Amino acid sequence: MDKAPPALDRVGLVLRVLVTGGAGFLGSHVVDALVARGDRVLVVDDLSTGDRANVNAAADLRVADVSDSSALERALAGQRWDAAVHCAAKTKVVESMEKKELYERVILEGTRNVLKLSRGHHASFFVNISTGGAIYGETPVCADETVPVDPPSNYGRFKAKAEELVRSSRIDSITLRLANIYGARQRKDLEGGVIAIFIGCWKRREPITLFGDGSYQRDYVYIGDVVQAILTALAGRHRGVYNIGTGIATSVNDVVRTLTSLLGAPPGVHQAAARPAEILRACVDPTRAARDGLWQPRTALAEGLRLTAAAEGALATAD
Ligand SMILES: NC(=O)c1ccc[n+]([C@@H]2O[C@H](COP(=O)([O-])OP(=O)(O)OC[C@H]3O[C@@H](n4cnc5c(N)ncnc54)[C@H](O)[C@@H]3O)[C@@H](O)[C@H]2O)c1
Repeated sequence: MDKAPPALDRVGLVLRVLVTGGAGFLGSHVVDALVARGDRVLVVDDLSTGDRANVNAAADLRVADVSDSSALERALAGQRWDAAVHCAAKTKVVESMEKKELYERVILEGTRNVLKLSRGHHASFFVNISTGGAIYGETPVCADETVPVDPPSNYGRFKAKAEELVRSSRIDSITLRLANIYGARQRKDLEGGVIAIFIGCWKRREPITLFGDGSYQRDYVYIGDVVQAILTALAGRHRGVYNIGTGIATSVNDVVRTLTSLLGAPPGVHQAAARPAEILRACVDPTRAARDGLWQPRTALAEGLRLTAAAEGALATAD
């Protein structure tokens, strides 16, 4: 078991936390949760896919590219943080095959720079946000952390290399391999956010697009549950690699069925050819996180979809 004494015991303590990518989907929810519990939050984001409007007014936003070491140093000059949550990344699987250099630079140089600055600024803990959905390849059985990584995409490959950078760095760290996250505020124009895309279609009364026969499966984990995992991880009691997912593989057809029971029939269904190189089944086994007292999923898919549709204003449309 990869457990260690707490690096950051926050009893009576306000943490100063650097959140990279804090204007994005996941990062902005992490920022909100940290602010809500009274921590001081510094955000670095280049706003390339994030949005300034997502950033909690109580957080301090510095606009900079994490892969540009001097720009990052300038943006964070004079700042101190106890811990970093490193979310900033390019995240599109298909795009990563077309823009290899961009993905390599942002994911690898970005991680290297944030690690280096965190050490230099005396941070004592690093939470590395990695991917479970894109790192194991096909998972006929939900993958636990002992399964060798086999990423088919450049995105997954660079995330795996970034994990190595974090592991071999001299700062105490945890890497969370997240399954497919869904929830409010997820962009509707990015691949991977199929639930956000579908709910957007329902809301606007536009047809949904189904690729292939809709049988490919993902492990969908609710944003609120993922944020809980990150908050617990920040205490520094757990080190190493942990899967954060539900251990349940759900097909796109099943997502549509559950949304239909919530929102009524889809406004239309457009069938499209299966996308090349699509993983058929991606699912992570979260047993280790539960066994070590780090985290377990709480929100069932039907409930998470209801919360997401409500937050996006799609439930009202269904009435
Ligand atoms: N959404 C998911 O299902 C999922 C699943 C597994 C892992 N992840 C990981 O979670 C993290 C956040 O992803 P997300 O879904 O919130 O995506 P997102 O695009 O909403 O957030 C990424 C954020 O990083 C910022 N960013 C991108 N390049 C940057 C750079 N060079 N410098 C500074 N900031 C930069 C973007 O502007 C954005 O705000 C990523 O590391 C991603 O790999 C996401």
